[in-house]
Amino acid sequence: MPGQPFFITTPIYYVNAAPHIGHAYSTIAADTMARWRRLWGDDVVFLTGTDEHGLKIQRAAEGEGLTPLEFADRVSQTFRDAWELLDISNTDFIRTTEPRHYLAVQTMLQRVYDAGDIELGTYEGRYCVSCEAYYTEEELVDGLCPIHLRPVELVVEENYFFRLSRFEDRLLEYYENTPDAIVPPGKRNEAIGFIKQGLRDFSVSRTSISWGVPIPWDEKHVSYVWFDALINYCTAIGYGTDVEQFNRYWPVVNHVLAKDILRFHAVYWPAMLMSAGELPPHREAIHGFLLVGGEKMSKTALNQIAPADLVADFGVDGFRYFFLADQRFGPDGDFSYEAMLARYNADLANNFGNLASRVLNMAVNYCGGVVPATRADGPLREAAAAAFTTLTVELESYNFSDGFGAVWELIGAANAYIEEQQPWARQKAGDTDAVAAVVGDCLETLRVVTLLASPLIPNAAAALWSRLGLPGRPEDARLPDAAAWGGLPAGSPLEKGTALFPRVDAP
Ligand code: MSP
Repeated sequence: MPGQPFFITTPIYYVNAAPHIGHAYSTIAADTMARWRRLWGDDVVFLTGTDEHGLKIQRAAEGEGLTPLEFADRVSQTFRDAWELLDISNTDFIRTTEPRHYLAVQTMLQRVYDAGDIELGTYEGRYCVSCEAYYTEEELVDGLCPIHLRPVELVVEENYFFRLSRFEDRLLEYYENTPDAIVPPGKRNEAIGFIKQGLRDFSVSRTSISWGVPIPWDEKHVSYVWFDALINYCTAIGYGTDVEQFNRYWPVVNHVLAKDILRFHAVYWPAMLMSAGELPPHREAIHGFLLVGGEKMSKTALNQIAPADLVADFGVDGFRYFFLADQRFGPDGDFSYEAMLARYNADLANNFGNLASRVLNMAVNYCGGVVPATRADGPLREAAAAAFTTLTVELESYNFSDGFGAVWELIGAANAYIEEQQPWARQKAGDTDAVAAVVGDCLETLRVVTLLASPLIPNAAAALWSRLGLPGRPEDARLPDAAAWGGLPAGSPLEKGTALFPRVDAP
C-alpha cells in the first residue's frame, strides 16, 4: 500500500556554475525532509535538476566554444555527481532540455494563452543576464543590477506578456487564507509585501535568443527562461501527460528555495498556476543565504566552496549535519571552516560519537555484548519522547536546527545520566543489575537517537543501527511506532565498531 503522497522539490540549478555549498544547502534540506517523510511511510517524490535555457547559459556555452546543450550536458552531470556524493535520495532529476519538459511548458503556455492571460506587447527594459530578469530604472543601484551590481542591458523587443497585474487580489486572498503556504512567516510577509507594492505584467517570450522552448502559437518566440523553469515542478509529475499522477502529487508539493528567488516562486508561479487552472503550490520553504566571510559567493569573488572539499575533511554526514544544525532555516548565515570544525568536534565527535562508543563499550565489557532489557519506565524515556515531539513539530515548518537540536539534547541527557550513574563504579561494586539497567536505557536512547537523526546523517545512523543489533536499516522503521520507548530487543548481539565521527584537527 503506498502511503500518503508527498512531493518535494529543490530549485533547478543553473548550469553556468559548478555546485557549491549554497546549492548543497537547499538540496540537503529537501533530502532530509524527504527522508523524514519516508520514515512516516509517505510515498515521496523528490525532485531536483538543472535549469539549462536562457541567455546566461547560451553565452557561457559560447564562451567555451560549445553548443548550449553540450555545455549543459557537462555541467548538469556535475550536479548529479555532487548529489550522489552527498547521499541525496532524489527520485527524479529533471533537465529543462528534456522532451518531457518541452511538452509540459508548451501545454501550460497554451492553457495560459487560452485563458486570455498572455498578450503581445513591446518591451523596453533593463535586463540583468545573471538574474535573467528585468529591472526598472528605480530598482537599479547606481545604474547596476541591485543583486549582482553588474551592468544591465537595454533590451527592446516584441514580447508576449503574462498579465500578472490581474492576479493581485487573488494572490493576496490566497496568502491571507493559507497562513502556512510560505514558511518561515517572515518570508510570507515579504511575499505579501511584493504583491502589495503592485504587480506589473512580465514578458514571457524572447525573439532575440533561440535557446529555449518555442512558444507553441508563435514559433519565432522562445519562452522566457523563468516561465519555462518553474514549470519543471509540474513536468516531473506528468503535467499534460499523466493526469492521475499529476493530481496525486501536485496538491502536496513542497518547494524548497532561497530568498533570492522568492518573488518568482511566491508571486509569478502561483499566478501562472491559477491562470492555467491549477492549485498554487501547497508549501514553499524559504531559507536565507549562506555567506562566506560575510560575502555572497560568486565566481568573480572566487569564494565558491565545493561540497567535495568539505566532505574530504568532515565526511558526508559531518557536512550534512553542520549545514542543517548550525544554519537557521530563514536568516542568512555565515560559513566558516573554524565554526564547522568546532561544531563537528563538539556535536558529532564528542557528544554523539562519545555516547555511542562509551555505551557500546560498557555493553560489551559489562553486559556480555548483548542488549540488556530496557526498563519500561527508564529515566530517559521522557527525554526521548520529548525529542521526538519537538523534532516532529519543528520539521513541520522546516526548522531543522531546533528540531535536530532537540535530538542532540537527548544525547546530552544520556551523557549526563551516565556521569551521574557512574556505571563503572557500580560494576566495580558488583551491582550488575544496576549496570544492566543503565546500559539498557542508554542503548535504547541510542536507538531512538539513531532513528531520529537518520534523515540528517544517514550513513552514521545505518552503521550504528547495525552495531545495536537491529535488523535492516533505520529507513525501514516506521514512525510514530518506531520512536516509542522499548524498541530494542533484549539479547541482540552488539558490536563496538570504530569511531563514528573521528575527531578532526585544525589544519
Ligand atoms: N535556475 C534558477 C532556479 C529556477 S527554479 C524553478 C536559479 N538557479 S541557481 O543556480 O541560481 O540557484 C539558486 C538557488 O540555489 C537558491 O534559491 C538557493 O536554493 C541555492 N543557493 C544558491 N546560492 C546560495 C547560497 N549562497 N546560500 C544558500 N542557498 C543558495 O536561481
